[in-house]
Amino acid sequence: MNKFSESMMVDLPEFLNTGFALKAHLASYLQIPMQDITNLLSKGSEELASLHPKSYEFEDPTSFYEENVGTAHLLDLASWHLGSADYIADTLRLLKMFTKGHVLDFGGGIGTHTLYAASLEEVDHVFFVDLNPKNRSFVELRSKMLGLEDKISFHRDINSLGQVLFDSVICLDVLEHLADPSKQLVSFLDVMKPDSRALMNWYFFKGYNEEFPFHFDDPLMIDNFFLTLQKNFLEVFHPLLITTRVYRPMQNE
Ligand SMILES: C[S@@+](CC[C@H](N)C(=O)[O-])C[C@H]1O[C@@H](n2cnc3c(N)ncnc32)[C@H](O)[C@@H]1O
Repeated sequence: MNKFSESMMVDLPEFLNTGFALKAHLASYLQIPMQDITNLLSKGSEELASLHPKSYEFEDPTSFYEENVGTAHLLDLASWHLGSADYIADTLRLLKMFTKGHVLDFGGGIGTHTLYAASLEEVDHVFFVDLNPKNRSFVELRSKMLGLEDKISFHRDINSLGQVLFDSVICLDVLEHLADPSKQLVSFLDVMKPDSRALMNWYFFKGYNEEFPFHFDDPLMIDNFFLTLQKNFLEVFHPLLITTRVYRPMQNE
């Protein structure tokens, strides 16, 4: 029996209840009492956003995510995953339908999708990739606390993974943070098998009140993104009413 199944099931009801013990994991990682974590998360996204680095610090996205953000994004993401648990749970349902074998979670954040994918029998290994070293160490701690560490490895970028080919690629709420998301689509194709599936969404919008200053929204960049997507990927139908889409590589016979 896996360690996690002795203590906590990593399944949908547990995600909806506790986000896979997210508050306890934050308390342990940030060395803040649990009650203070609850108080911080209850302040809502506006106050949490004030802990976040400012948009004027956002010149080079790579160094921003790798060096400036630090632990500031953890509470932001936690507040979102706990507050929009029904929506995130639907993305987990998609993982259950489509992920297997070797899984890439690109820009994995606080690890919700990585941890859930690792708990699935059909999945052999999850490669968690995130530029932010604090996200990597936080999710590594979570994987140990849930007894899932044998099925997950942690990486800064795809290039450092060597020759791995993936059965499943997860890229959720990341593409809008990249200066060149088309290039990212092409680099996913390079590591996918002909029958692989990619689960992706995007939000190329800074918000009606600039709530998302870190999102890229250049119209030419967006045109190029959709041209690259439509030339190289075929959408696979799924019945869930969410913005996340599933794709397979287009076979150009
Ligand atoms: C909005 S969060 C989404 C996290 C997670 N996928 C989710 O659905 O909750 C975006 C994540 O992408 C990461 N990120 C941004 N640029 C990246 C890059 N070039 N390579 C890898 N990760 C990146 C950030 O550090 C952050 O964790």
